[in-house]
Amino acid sequence: MRTVSVQLGTRSYAIKIAPGLLDQLGRECAQLELGGRCAVITDANAGRHFARGALKSLAASGFTPVLISVPAGEKSKRLAIAEKCYDQLAAHRLERKSFIVALGGGVVGDLAGFVAATYLRGIPFVQVATTLLAQVDSSVGGKTGVNLRAGKNLVGVFYQPQRVLCDLDALKTLPEREYVSGLAEVIKYGIIYDAKLFAQLERGLPDLLQRNPGTLLEIIARCCEIKAEIVSQDETENGRRAILNFGHTIGHAIENSSGYGKILHGEAISMGQVAAAKISLEILGMPPGDVERIEKLFARAGLPVKLKLDVARRKKLFAAMRLDKKVSGGEIKFVLARKIGEAVRGQKVPARLIESVLA
Ligand SMILES: NC(=O)c1ccc[n+]([C@@H]2O[C@H](COP(=O)([O-])OP(=O)(O)OC[C@H]3O[C@@H](n4cnc5c(N)ncnc54)[C@H](O)[C@@H]3O)[C@@H](O)[C@H]2O)c1
Ligand SMILES: [Zn+2]
Repeated sequence: MRTVSVQLGTRSYAIKIAPGLLDQLGRECAQLELGGRCAVITDANAGRHFARGALKSLAASGFTPVLISVPAGEKSKRLAIAEKCYDQLAAHRLERKSFIVALGGGVVGDLAGFVAATYLRGIPFVQVATTLLAQVDSSVGGKTGVNLRAGKNLVGVFYQPQRVLCDLDALKTLPEREYVSGLAEVIKYGIIYDAKLFAQLERGLPDLLQRNPGTLLEIIARCCEIKAEIVSQDETENGRRAILNFGHTIGHAIENSSGYGKILHGEAISMGQVAAAKISLEILGMPPGDVERIEKLFARAGLPVKLKLDVARRKKLFAAMRLDKKVSGGEIKFVLARKIGEAVRGQKVPARLIESVLA
């Protein structure tokens, strides 16, 4: 077991990483001085594998859990689904001291976190992250929210969980494409923050692709440490936290312009990060060897590194990029990297350079 703590004063919390943690859910929640009633919000897939275990563990520790299941997929991250959750929380008379358990990947985490943040002006919540992406990224740092037709994550709040559990056993049932998609965020930490981690990933990729438990424990813990460090310096993204968006300006635009769900988040930001590396070469003089290593590692992981675009798609993509939350005053600002391990935020990039890199 590895424990990483996120230091945020009174909102600090622990991330626990180990196999078999789902069975400990009740005991973990019992440490948090919460009320007896709770709701487990999950989706169809995570629910099929883990809901029974979660409910059993909570009941064994004296809690009264109710299960709320939403359809699987990005489409559940919307206000209409949040409203359905509120209705069920109210029907089951959850009160201020009651709590929510988000059981699933990033979609469930973002949605259930948003519901917890807003129901009764905020009730506590615990994350049980069941995808690789959720374990290394979305469950940590308190960004919660839903999508609008106009773009991803346009409605939301910063709201920290009370605890995060990353059960390594949960990754066993994760479909290959989802697992590989999560690796895109893992590689991101190497690029933006930790050259040693990047080199370790280059060496250990075969183990990681085989989901070797020892390798997973080590790598997931390191990713959580990095995210925890960045978030505790800048909880609400007024500055440095923005480096976590490396590859995301183009990545979000790819997701948005191709319709939610067709391209996975990790696949989109894989292409986005390779593009950002190429832009970094032009603007910050990233060594060409680093750009090559980055492209190669994503490709070896089985992630897409190039985007095929016709004129219509390209137009749509640029329109989506301008709607991104990170655009301020009409200018597209990018997170770039000087070299592997060192990201710089707020870099203005001329539109024609973005176009030529995407061409
Ligand atoms: N809040 C943040 O800081 C943050 C950061 C990164 C991404 N995100 C968000 O996270 C979302 C993507 O998360 P995701 O990649 O986890 O997607 P997801 O939650 O949709 O999960 C992927 C798929 O795997 C299924 N699943 C989950 N756990 C499983 C398991 N253990 N075994 C089998 N199937 C399982 C899900 O039902 C779903 O079909 C996006 O909406 C993105 O915007 C949020
Ligand atoms: Zn991401």
